[in-house]
Amino acid sequence: MLYTVSAVQVLVMLDAVDELDKRGLGGKQKVASFIAGLQDKKTGCFAGDEWGELDTRFLYGAFNALSLLGLLHMVDVPKAVAYIHGCQNLDGAYGIRPGAESHAGQVFTCVGALAIAGELGAIDKDRLAGWLSERQLENGGLNGRPEKLEDSCYSWWVMSSLAMIGRLHWVDGKKLAAFILRCQDPEAGGFADRPGDMVDVFHTCFGVAGLSLLKFEGTKEVDPVYCMPKAVTSKCLAK
Ligand code: FPP
Ligand code: ZN
Repeated sequence: MLYTVSAVQVLVMLDAVDELDKRGLGGKQKVASFIAGLQDKKTGCFAGDEWGELDTRFLYGAFNALSLLGLLHMVDVPKAVAYIHGCQNLDGAYGIRPGAESHAGQVFTCVGALAIAGELGAIDKDRLAGWLSERQLENGGLNGRPEKLEDSCYSWWVMSSLAMIGRLHWVDGKKLAAFILRCQDPEAGGFADRPGDMVDVFHTCFGVAGLSLLKFEGTKEVDPVYCMPKAVTSKCLAK
């Protein structure tokens, strides 16, 4: 699932999704039926592969790729949405499956999937934004759950979720931008999880995407639902 979703995203970025239908391999339809085949009939959640472990990351990935392909109707959306509601905890945030600990990464996957399904109206936005805003620490960085260290990638998981529910201003953006910038290695150029650590592509991507949500000078607008340039997703979804 994760590699298939990444491939679809890269094809969208390159404006090359139509190439899929020119290769005689079943095209978009075949890709979408692979993804749809990973939906669990009983729960509505999705598995990542044939081994069947169910997880909201896979559910989000499925909604992401299928919506970009224009084939979301191939899956049972209401059942998946009901599953997401079952992952919400009393603190307003979401876990990886019903009853699991709230985690900002899972909040992104659940809120992102609800956004794609057009179901954001069902969220108690103030309660969720309250939990998300508590992720900001004194040093300006955000953590993924209570009692954890700050980490630049949560600038994406937390801030994209706040953006989707219209509460970006519930975090101190100035302090967060300064923290993200401190994660950049001035020699290597990339970003680490926190200042002084080893840089990697993952934290560079989500650090820069976080800066874009903060409207940092020189960044293009990012789509909080897809983590791709807004101009790219708007064009693709308008087709
Ligand atoms: C933290 O994980 C992050 C998550 C759980 C979110 C995962 C989201 C996806 C796989 C979908 C990504 C797709 C796009 C388009 C952005 P972690 O295991 O690093 O958590 P930890 O900080 O608790 O170790
Ligand atoms: Zn991280």
